[in-house]
Amino acid sequence: MGLLALAEVERGARARLPAPIWDFIAGGSGEERTLAANLTQFGHYALRPRVLVDVSVCDPSVTLLGSPLRTPIGVAPMAYHRLVDPEGETATARAAGRTGTLLVAGIFASRSLEEIAAAATGPLWLQLYWLRRREVLAGLVERAEAAGYLALVLTVDAPRVGRRLRDLRNGFAVPSGVRAVNLDPELMAASHRGGAGASGIEDHAREQFDPALTWSDLAWLRARTRLPLVLKGILTAEDARLAAEHGADAVVVSNHGGRQLDGALTSLAALPEVVDALPPDFPVLFDGGVRTGTDIAVALALGARAVLVGRPVLWGLAVGGEDGAAEVLDLLGTELTHAMALLGRPRLRDLDRGALGAAAFAP
Ligand code: FNR
Repeated sequence: MGLLALAEVERGARARLPAPIWDFIAGGSGEERTLAANLTQFGHYALRPRVLVDVSVCDPSVTLLGSPLRTPIGVAPMAYHRLVDPEGETATARAAGRTGTLLVAGIFASRSLEEIAAAATGPLWLQLYWLRRREVLAGLVERAEAAGYLALVLTVDAPRVGRRLRDLRNGFAVPSGVRAVNLDPELMAASHRGGAGASGIEDHAREQFDPALTWSDLAWLRARTRLPLVLKGILTAEDARLAAEHGADAVVVSNHGGRQLDGALTSLAALPEVVDALPPDFPVLFDGGVRTGTDIAVALALGARAVLVGRPVLWGLAVGGEDGAAEVLDLLGTELTHAMALLGRPRLRDLDRGALGAAAFAP
């Protein structure tokens, strides 16, 4: 593609995808205030470059829960990659492997966990929602372990699905040719219904997600696996402390890309309090609105160990399949390395809060 900026691939994806699918991917919940704020949040900080530092070698590599990564960038868990590319998650897995990044496959993946694992050449984690039927979760955990997944990511910001007005207006239903193949078709039937004023995604979640889940239930999952457990969707110091107390090995600071509680604070606003509430070496990941290498530099400077990227990976897949997704991930890594050089911080450990100031032009 010869990609220079992610905005180009966003335009390409929008032109290519049917409107209801574009809306499902691009949209947020409610008035989409949090969605919009995720993009402007980085403008609240200015970068403070240091000069006359030897930046002839800049090294963005990092180790995350024991896995070495070429860059501190991973693919956020997203449902149904086959909505945008006939191959789906196996193409994403190859793209992540090629670029030395992490793929977090979603519980609603449209390729089997085993096919994704066979295509992957880099680290793979599996994201779960807590379903009412625990035996289904237990089965997925067993399969993930057998297939070589290296961590489980439990998404905790979705006791129900956010009110995504675009999907309700479109009567969005997951097309029948795209299926969450890792789950029983009978469990997924509502996702394919949709219809006037309804969202298949919302209806399905109401039926299948367990809204009664509390901290004490985590022991059940903890006891079922030897894999590290990551909690995704933490936005407060209080919950960060509880996550550590209840045996989480890492957290993802995330507002679900503005798709859950509209009006929720931005991930970047939450990041410092979460980092400060946890022991210094506790891995904190970040997602939401990452579109450039300098966005990544800001999140790392505030204490994130790595970032996850959501929509841009689907744009890349939509426009160019595996190559398109790889190009998106490569560009972000290249931009980050460039930012490290111009910031005078050639190693990730040099990227601390001293790299940030208040932006004079804050949005
Ligand atoms: C998501 N996200 C998501 N998160 C999750 O834990 N489980 C899931 O199944 C999904 N599915 C999903 C589908 C689509 C189409 C999108 C866009 C997002 C949220 C995702 O993991 C991540 O938190 C955000 O996408 C990050 O924000 P950006 O990078 O998209 O701005």
